[in-house]
Amino acid sequence: MPPTDTTPENPAPKDSEGGATPADAAAGKDVATEKGVSTQKGGTPEDEPAAELPHGEAPGIRFEKVVKRFGSNVVLRELDFTVAPGERVTLIGPSGSGKTTILRLLMTLETLDEGLIWIGDETLWHMDRGGKRVPANQKHLHEMRKQVGMVFQQFNLFPNMNVLRNLTEGPVRVLGVPKDEAVERAKGLLDLVGLADKENAHPTQLSGGQQQRVAIARSLAMQPRVLLLDEVTSALDPELVVGVQDLLRDIARQSDLTMLCVTHEMTFAKDISNRVLMFDQGQIVEEGPPDQIFGEPSEQRTRDFLQAVLAS
Ligand SMILES: Nc1ncnc2c1ncn2[C@@H]1O[C@H](COP(=O)(O)OP(=O)(O)OP(=O)(O)O)[C@@H](O)[C@H]1O
Ligand SMILES: [Mg+2]
Repeated sequence: MPPTDTTPENPAPKDSEGGATPADAAAGKDVATEKGVSTQKGGTPEDEPAAELPHGEAPGIRFEKVVKRFGSNVVLRELDFTVAPGERVTLIGPSGSGKTTILRLLMTLETLDEGLIWIGDETLWHMDRGGKRVPANQKHLHEMRKQVGMVFQQFNLFPNMNVLRNLTEGPVRVLGVPKDEAVERAKGLLDLVGLADKENAHPTQLSGGQQQRVAIARSLAMQPRVLLLDEVTSALDPELVVGVQDLLRDIARQSDLTMLCVTHEMTFAKDISNRVLMFDQGQIVEEGPPDQIFGEPSEQRTRDFLQAVLAS
């Protein structure tokens, strides 16, 4: 399957980001319901493991001298970083620096120019053949990609399918999960994200926050081991942000997922991540625990960036 395919496991070609989606039209409506849902049902009590969430050892991620170019624009310059198994890392950096590109490479929505990307002990874009490292074939890409889920800024739900089918389509078609099992699991996930009563709704009938909850549930329905979050609340009206962030905090706390999160929301980043990477000009500028990066960054570039974020 080519990297730009739109499929249940790979639902968001770049073109659809920022474009008009059904989500945009609905964003912000039904605020009272949204808030009610998020406090009454969204998430489960602290420290109680949620059966619906993926558990067990998750693979780490490693970028090794990764180069990504768009024409003459070199976006990633021999980029090196790691995310340990089960670690939750936030990526910050200026607009246009390549944060989304990093996540899209992990989703195989962009192709790699140079270097290696590791998921666990295996390379994503290369495979071993007779002791030699060769470019990955479609089967290898497919198997590797199954481990990774992503939630996008613009939700990217399947507009022609109801909520339940948005959650079952990928597991049934891509993972071969029996329909009954997929439906049962989807219902559990909808309960987890506080939308059990919306299984028959179509995306256009939901608020932006509700759509993003469905998108989160849909990515979890694929049982990923690595979860990528790309500015998942930045398209939401301010009053819807907290509910979605609370849900993701619960998911982070109650699962063993390895998480790589792009966000400018510092409080959320502090809550959700073990480590923050400051990224600019194709490379990591500095990294450290959230309190250090947000409180006492050592690099001027980071200070300038954080000041600009706070001023905006
Ligand atoms: N499909 C593409 N074709 C050409 N250039 C691209 C493509 N996708 C991204 N770029 C370019 O790559 C660079 C990095 O883009 P990217 O979307 O990864 O940035 P970002 O850090 O996520 O920015 P933002 O914070 O605004 O979301 C930008 O210069 C962008 O114009
Ligand atoms: Mg981006």
